[in-house]
Amino acid sequence: MDSYEFLSKSPAATSALGERVGERLETGSVIALTGELGCGKTLLTRGVCAGLGVPLRQVNSPTFVLVNEYRGRLPVFHMDLYRLGTESDVVELGITDYLSRTESGVMIVEWAEKIPSLLPDDLLKVEFEVLSARQRRIKFSTSGGRFGRLLEELQRS
Ligand SMILES: Nc1ncnc2c1ncn2[C@@H]1O[C@H](COP(=O)(O)OP(=O)(O)O)[C@@H](O)[C@H]1O
Ligand SMILES: [Mg+2]
Repeated sequence: MDSYEFLSKSPAATSALGERVGERLETGSVIALTGELGCGKTLLTRGVCAGLGVPLRQVNSPTFVLVNEYRGRLPVFHMDLYRLGTESDVVELGITDYLSRTESGVMIVEWAEKIPSLLPDDLLKVEFEVLSARQRRIKFSTSGGRFGRLLEELQRS
């Protein structure tokens, strides 16, 4: 299976969805979140982290640094590229470094559309669409084999 669509009707539903994803993630997972400001990327990330066993008080968008690191069942790197302007060499080096460390952990990237060429092909893409004040369409898709079973399990559960 290479895609799965979820209609979220509340912030709690988005968190719970993230938690189900987090419970099933394996090392080397890269999650690319896209969608307008306030669509729910950080909220979903908090759910994913909860599912990975990260204490929730730790999880907030990295504002002054490129990446926040958390420790749950696996190491988690949380990147928020909202303030990232043009791709500088320094930023590129940093991102590449974190991606190599992701071999033994999980990377979650908000505003992933800003660095398409730096991310691996086999990632879990999550696109948000704001339908109304409390409704979000959340579309998961993947092109490689890594996340096929995860999407099947989300569909079934
Ligand atoms: N169904 C929903 N899913 C996610 N967020 C929702 C939903 N309905 C309302 N919201 C609100 O939208 C906002 C999402 O914020 P946040 O996760 O920080 O967005 P982003 O990181 O994409 O900018 C929160 O204030 C949340 O309460
Ligand atoms: Mg955010």
